[in-house]
Amino acid sequence: MKEMLKKIREEAEAAISAPDADLEELRIRYLGKKGELTAVLRGMGKLSAEERPVIGQLANEVRAYIEGEITRIAEERKAKELEAAIHSAKAYNPSIKMEEAVGSYHPITLVQRELEEIFSTMGFTVEDYDEIVDDYRCFEALNIPPYHPARDMQDTYYLENGQLLKTQTSAAQNAIMKKYGAPLRAIFPGRCFRNEATDACHENTFFQMEGMMIDENISIANLIYFMKTMLSEVFRRDIKVRLRPGYFPFTEPGFELDINCLICGGEGCPSCKNSGWLELCPCGMIHPNVLTAGGIDPEKYTGFAFGLGLTRLAMMKYGVKDIRDFNSGSLKALSQFEDN
Ligand code: DAH
Repeated sequence: MKEMLKKIREEAEAAISAPDADLEELRIRYLGKKGELTAVLRGMGKLSAEERPVIGQLANEVRAYIEGEITRIAEERKAKELEAAIHSAKAYNPSIKMEEAVGSYHPITLVQRELEEIFSTMGFTVEDYDEIVDDYRCFEALNIPPYHPARDMQDTYYLENGQLLKTQTSAAQNAIMKKYGAPLRAIFPGRCFRNEATDACHENTFFQMEGMMIDENISIANLIYFMKTMLSEVFRRDIKVRLRPGYFPFTEPGFELDINCLICGGEGCPSCKNSGWLELCPCGMIHPNVLTAGGIDPEKYTGFAFGLGLTRLAMMKYGVKDIRDFNSGSLKALSQFEDN
């Protein structure tokens, strides 16, 4: 009998742990009224008085073991099923229960991370910077004194203590130059603010990613190379770009880098103000005054900088027609980008 019990235990163990085991069927087969174990227990009457308690105890142990295993595996399966349901859940589904819903990364975060990775491989460090800055950082250190008309284009929200919500990631240039000195390669993504009337392509809160590379003998050729490499990686295809002269007090010379509008293919639509081109990346060679303000000798070092419109880039990459969707907080709108 001992042998029979041992055999039942071994067989049950193998059957239960099979990945496609029907647990309910096994429960009946081993533990049910007509089950194998029950049959053995029934035969105990024939045993001697000494044997009976020994076999009885053994049979109970086998029973407890099989019961325990079946319950354990059933629970394991339930947990796996729940996990799978959670992972395949889409915020789209209105019938989804809150405890089963799973969040997703914001499309701008996805683009930001991708860029951080691309630039990291090119030797750039990733810096973080404040959203509230002073006038010096946002304007004066960038060669924009108080009377300068360039300020008109960047009205923002002022705090009572004179500080302001930064209008551009360029506001971090000065601090980062002072932190590292030259040579320097850094990118610094960040949230920016402007007092804007909102429409399909303007928001009062948006993201930029600034980059700087400062070293001896840095030229416009380096700037073009890095911009092209980065954009072709982001879009995973060859995209058209054009460089126009642009004016920024903190660059000399300054450029506007445009890319072909990927939403309309260049024909003109509201997202590109019907021009077929999207202003994506203003850039330029860093003005000597800005280097000096950052404690870097402009006689020895030169550098380029760019202020990539991260929000714009996300619109292009994911075909989002209205910039306001990004701040809408609508899970339905925001959760669909993760797998792209
Ligand atoms: N900060 C500028 C803006 O928001 C963009 C910019 C232009 C950044 C030229 C730069 C640059 O680094 O070199 O309009």
